[in-house]
Amino acid sequence: TQSAKESLYIVSQYASSFFVKQLWDTEEGRGIGLSYFKERGFREDILKKFEVGYSPDVWDALTQSATGQGHKLEFLESTGLSIKNDNGKIYDRFRGRVMFPIHNFTGRIIGFGGRTLKTDKNVPKYVNSPESEIYHKSNVLYGLFHAKKAIRDLDNCYLAEGYADVLSVHQAGIENVVASSGTSLTVEQIKLIGRFTQNITILFDGDAAGIKASLRGLDMILEEGLNVKIVSFPDGHDPDSYMHHVGAGAFKSYLEQNRKDFILYKANVLLKDAGNDPIKRAGIIRDIVESIAKIPDQIKASVFIRECSSLLEIDEHILLGELNKMRSAKL
Ligand code: CTP
Ligand code: MN
Ligand code: MN
Ligand code: MN
Ligand code: MN
Repeated sequence: TQSAKESLYIVSQYASSFFVKQLWDTEEGRGIGLSYFKERGFREDILKKFEVGYSPDVWDALTQSATGQGHKLEFLESTGLSIKNDNGKIYDRFRGRVMFPIHNFTGRIIGFGGRTLKTDKNVPKYVNSPESEIYHKSNVLYGLFHAKKAIRDLDNCYLAEGYADVLSVHQAGIENVVASSGTSLTVEQIKLIGRFTQNITILFDGDAAGIKASLRGLDMILEEGLNVKIVSFPDGHDPDSYMHHVGAGAFKSYLEQNRKDFILYKANVLLKDAGNDPIKRAGIIRDIVESIAKIPDQIKASVFIRECSSLLEIDEHILLGELNKMRSAKL
């Protein structure tokens, strides 16, 4: 119901303010959390803008504080901030982590991602809020609230993978950026971007998982009728690590100079492991035409067929024949 939802928003806002206070005003928060962010090269204004915080490394700091202030345990539990174990003992979900609050696009806090500060491989790097009445992760884009005006003004949305990427791209002075964070990209997320712009530029990680996700993402974006470009990063960098590696100015020009359309991107990625093998090359051509076949607008599709034809030196009519075969197979 409306009022139950309202209670979840209120307790989430309380938790966020609590984590922010822990980060800036406690010895543990400053010594561990804030210095972590500083070591990664984040500026204070960016940390404040995104309201990042710190969850103390004890069992129930937030639960105690919130219930002490009159917040009901029921709401702490239904947002997943507090967890009851089998013995009925209550503890905090987020402990000893730096905290990224997740806003909906009207600016209310609906959930959190918490990053561990430990390097132990057995500890999950991120813990996230569970689904709740106010948090449906497949419908949310991290950073959209802070980006939506710039997305509209610039008529483009940069789409990254993670929390840190959004902060670092902002720090480079680029505000039209969001992250799919914690899920592989969903149709709902693409539709959400589509309310603000028809143009998406994917900035996924340069590792194998990121490349795979960007190939899948670009097909989904084409299928939704939006335009997609891709910028890839060298040596397994993600936007965050690359920004801090080269600096804000160089990062900005890198984005401008390395924006590829999906055909060029796919061709580059796929041709790398095909070499001169003609059968593999034919497979790649088919793969690219398959992406083009997802574009609902026929005129746009034919423009990309022409590009594909000149890039891969294949007769345009053959490609059009393939395209039509794939389209009719889909119907
Ligand atoms: N993620 C998650 N749970 C994990 C790993 C990742 O929810 N165990 C989500 C987080 O939203 C994360 C994003 O997927 O930000 C991208 O993952 P990854 O590239 O591994 O992390 P980074 O964002 O690069 O984190 P960092 O730079 O802090 O290492
Ligand atoms: Mn806020
Ligand atoms: Mn990654
Ligand atoms: Mn990453
Ligand atoms: Mn990273």
